[in-house]
Amino acid sequence: MGIQANNLNKFYGTTQVLHDVSFHCGKGETLVLLGPSGAGKSSLLRLLNLLEMADGGALSIANNDYDFDQQVSEKQGLALRKQVGMVFQQYNLWPHMTVMENLIEAPTKVAGVSKEQATQEALKMLSTLQLADKADAWPLQLSGGQQQRVAIARALMMKPEVLLFDEPTAALDPEITTQIVNIIKELSETGITQVVVTHEVDFAKKIASHVLYLEKGRVIEHGTKDAFKNPATQAFADYLTH
Ligand SMILES: Nc1ncnc2c1ncn2[C@@H]1O[C@H](COP(=O)(O)OP(=O)(O)O)[C@@H](O)[C@H]1O
Ligand SMILES: [Mg+2]
Repeated sequence: MGIQANNLNKFYGTTQVLHDVSFHCGKGETLVLLGPSGAGKSSLLRLLNLLEMADGGALSIANNDYDFDQQVSEKQGLALRKQVGMVFQQYNLWPHMTVMENLIEAPTKVAGVSKEQATQEALKMLSTLQLADKADAWPLQLSGGQQQRVAIARALMMKPEVLLFDEPTAALDPEITTQIVNIIKELSETGITQVVVTHEVDFAKKIASHVLYLEKGRVIEHGTKDAFKNPATQAFADYLTH
């Protein structure tokens, strides 16, 4: 259960951006991906829900196994993304739909849930994320922090086993970042496995159960959150104090 990546490689053209990336992330753990800009964090995240295909290696995630030495199809990607949600830095809400419509779109169109049931679940979700009064608002009427919470709510509507975040706090004020920290912690208590890309060390320390530090597409350090206090490598120690 959780995630097991073995020797994932990724090329863009002739440039290799991930080199034999391997790691384990147990169910319910929160793995933070850290590293300088260009290290390959976002590329790795996209491989985990098959938004892009690795060029070699193997991946187990949410009880699915993929061998990238064989062909993995776009259909498998679509199926996996029902179980593995993604939250982006730039919220990516559909601007022409209200908050409620954003939330019920995938459950009704993709998962076959009735509109009534999806609406019920969405109201519950919005109230949990302190957005109960925003159901009929348009995304552009909301603050950045509210939009990000709606984006998380929308991903949660599919009851994902794994939730991936790419720089979820990059555009947010410190106060809103604290709300995101609390949401991630609460989700982790419900058993959701989370992988969070960030370059904000303070944010990472608050949410991580485990950490994976990348440089130039290679895993440099992989450990528990104790690695923040006792880094095993000089490179990670330097990154933490930069
Ligand atoms: N779609 C793409 N096509 C070509 N090169 C890409 C693409 N996406 C990322 N890259 C390159 O891959 C490397 C890793 O990028 P990325 O995964 O975005 O790093 P990070 O998220 O750690 O900043 C960078 O050199 C980047 O320029
Ligand atoms: Mg990135």
